[in-house]
Amino acid sequence: MIRFNGKGNFNVPVGNVDFNQNVLDALNDYFDIVGRSNIQWSTQDFRAFFRGLDLSNQDLVYLDPPYLITFSEYNKLWNDETEAALFQIIDELNANGIRFAISNVTHYKGRINEAFLNWAQNYMIHPIHSNYISYHDNTIKRFNEVLVTNF
Ligand SMILES: C[S@@+](CC[C@H](N)C(=O)[O-])C[C@H]1O[C@@H](n2cnc3c(N)ncnc32)[C@H](O)[C@@H]1O
Repeated sequence: MIRFNGKGNFNVPVGNVDFNQNVLDALNDYFDIVGRSNIQWSTQDFRAFFRGLDLSNQDLVYLDPPYLITFSEYNKLWNDETEAALFQIIDELNANGIRFAISNVTHYKGRINEAFLNWAQNYMIHPIHSNYISYHDNTIKRFNEVLVTNF
């Protein structure tokens, strides 16, 4: 819910998909849960973050990394190398009997993340039947989203 224009002014559109009553309710639910939960936050790079963890087979790791083939701001430093490093970390989790689930976008506006699809063949691929509402275009779905798990 934070976005700024070139002049540095806050410019999240109000009243459509970006910020509406449903989003406000979801945020308030989120704040309630976070306030009641014991959560530790980290802003590390994922490689350093995983090095600092001591996981067991009682853990479940959920990952939602940047999507290699889409165009968000936070994708700018994400590339084939970071993606491959993430695959390696997840393969190690799997080898150690730790459950994981990772979200990703496999097809987007004619682009296909072949490396992700090849890697994911080793695991279970669950298509996500999302129902995203777009203010601009509620008919054409130009991306495929998946959840990949080892359980
Ligand atoms: C698809 S978004 C996840 C969004 C999140 N699930 C949410 O609902 O807010 C990918 C996230 O990965 C973060 N990210 C990008 N590069 C990273 C890195 N090298 N290590 C850790 N996180 C990174 C981005 O800042 C972004 O928040």
